[in-house]
This record gives sequence, structure tokens and C-alpha cells, in this order.
Amino acid sequence: MKTVFSGIQPTGKVHLGNLLGAINNWVELSNEENKNYFCVVDLHSLTTHPDPETMEENIFETIKVLVASGINLKNSNIYIQSNVSEHVQLSWILSNFCQIGELQRMTQFKEKADQLGNHAGILTYPILMAADILIHKANQVPVGDDQTQHLELTRNIVERFNNTYGEIFPLPERKTGKVGARLMSLRHPENKMSKSNDDLNGTIYFDDSKDEIIKKFKSSVTDSDDVIKFDADSKKGISNLIDIYSSLNDLSHHEVENKFENLKYGEFKIEVGESVVSYLEPIREKYNSMSNGDIASLIKNNLEEVKDSAKKTMDEINSALGI
Ligand code: TYM
Repeated sequence: MKTVFSGIQPTGKVHLGNLLGAINNWVELSNEENKNYFCVVDLHSLTTHPDPETMEENIFETIKVLVASGINLKNSNIYIQSNVSEHVQLSWILSNFCQIGELQRMTQFKEKADQLGNHAGILTYPILMAADILIHKANQVPVGDDQTQHLELTRNIVERFNNTYGEIFPLPERKTGKVGARLMSLRHPENKMSKSNDDLNGTIYFDDSKDEIIKKFKSSVTDSDDVIKFDADSKKGISNLIDIYSSLNDLSHHEVENKFENLKYGEFKIEVGESVVSYLEPIREKYNSMSNGDIASLIKNNLEEVKDSAKKTMDEINSALGI
């Protein structure tokens, strides 16, 4: 049996990249014989100085999307990071096994440091992420492509810690789908799809209406060849659409190319948009059927087991450290 951990920040609305790149794999793992921890990482989101007035609502909204997406709750604990203080305690311990240079070399640090005011949180962010992964001794981490470097760093930290204090942690592995691990913006396909895109038409949000979705796909940026062929270097826009269709219909890129070989881009864009509409519709319906009260009781029910697991790991670490 594997132990699975993954996290999502409660900033901004959940988008198609989160769903296809990460949450769909959470759903898959939750239907296997695993122990799953899915965490809304509110402490990580403090790096962006979010508005306290909307924080709670964003946390609840994110958890509702996780439940609506079909995570099997029988063997999954969904919880909020700040409810389990061991995450932060472990983060401090692990910071002693991580080089400053390694943190400075992280792509996300380089991309975001200036934009977020160069505070230390954005530098040490990956250490808290390592603590998240290790607090329940997870060995599987389903994440999108953009988190690969952070997971590599976690593995380095594990090796150093274990070499010094004994085999406490497993070496966690990344789990990713064959397709959909890096969705790009529909408007700027050289940038990844993100919650805070400058051009909102480049991102599909979980609660976009059918009309909005089709409109966004119709206006997606492609090249001028009108040949539906996957080439992530020179045909980024159309490759992104192929990737989305592949992911939603469980097809390889090649199978999608063959299926639509005689279509014009305009027609293909509508096919992809309609696939997205059919995928998001049941998620939106289930989302709308849940109340904040449902979510509050779910969190309450999970919390004791999550805290017990975190405490058990911390006891073992403290004893290995002699503190
Ligand atoms: P976050 O909140 O940015 O994103 C949540 C998950 O969605 C994936 N993702 C994407 N996948 C494909 N295409 C995209 N355009 C796209 N955008 C986002 C992310 O890879 C992620 O898996 N640091 C993490 C949260 C975190 C975490 C952890 C994850 C904190 N602790 C421990 C795993 C394990 C983050 O900011 O994800």
C-alpha cells in the first residue's frame, strides 16, 4: 500500500491545469488501495499576502472542487495545512538539510521572487513543501510538471537526513499522467495555464459556463498552418489543444492527430471545447450541491486521523534527533 500526498494552494479558482495535471491523478490514486492525504496548503499561499476576508471562502471552495472532482473519500483525508502544526515544525528541521544555493536555483523562486517582494517565504517555500510530503511519510506525489524540481529537492533532503539520522523517510516519487501534466495558457501558449494569468481568457476555470468555455477555445491562439499535429516546440497552441483533448478522452497525441486529421483548426477548437464542457459539467453540478457545512464536517471528521499520523512521524523524528 502506498502513502500518497499532494497539495493545492487556495488562491484563485481551480482551473483546468490543476484538474488535468494533478487532481485527476488524485482521483485515480484514491480509487486504489492507497492511504491518501490531500491538503489545501493555506500556509504556502501566504507568500502572496492574500486578503484575509476571502481566505476561508477560498479554502472551502477549493475543498468543494476536490470532492466534486470525484476523490474517493473512503481512503482519503482532505485537510487544511494550517490545522496541523507539525508541517511547520518539520519544515524547520528539514531546512537544516537544504542548501541556500539549491533554493535560489528553483525556477519558481527565480520567476516569482521579484514579483512577490523578495521575502524569505518565497525562498524557503520548497522546504515547507518537503515537510508536507514527509509528514505522513508519503512515497507517491501526484503533481503537474511545474512541481518536478521541488520534488527533486525533497528527495535530496530525504537522502541527507536519512544519511545522518537513519532511514526515517521513504524516497518519494512523482506520479504524473502521460498527458496533461503541463497545460498552457490558451491565449499565450508559451506560458503555463495559471490561476493568476494576466489574460483571463487563457485559463479555463472549473465553473466557467458552456458559452465562456467555447468562446475561450474559439479565441485560443494557434499557428497558421491549419495542420493538427503535435509539436510542442514550433506549434505550441495546437499542441496544447491536442494535449487537453488527449487527457480528457484517454487518447495518445497520435490518436488525436489521426482522429481529426481532416478538420480545420476552427472545427477542432470546438471539439476540444465541447469535451471540456462535458468534463466540467458534472463537477460544477456536484460542487453546487454542497454547502460549507458539508465541508466543515468533512474537515472535522478527517482531522483527528491526520493529526495522529503527523504526530507519529514527529515523535519518530524527534527521537532520532535526540530532542
Ligand atoms: P498549485 O496550487 O499551483 O497547483 C496545484 C497542482 O496543479 C498542478 N498544476 C498544473 N498542472 C498542469 N498544467 C498546469 N498549467 C498546472 N498548473 C498547476 C500543479 O503542478 C500542482 O500539482 N507548491 C504546490 C502546492 C504544494 C504541494 C505540496 C504539492 C504545497 N505542498 C506538497 C505537492 C506536494 C502548488 O503551488 O501547487
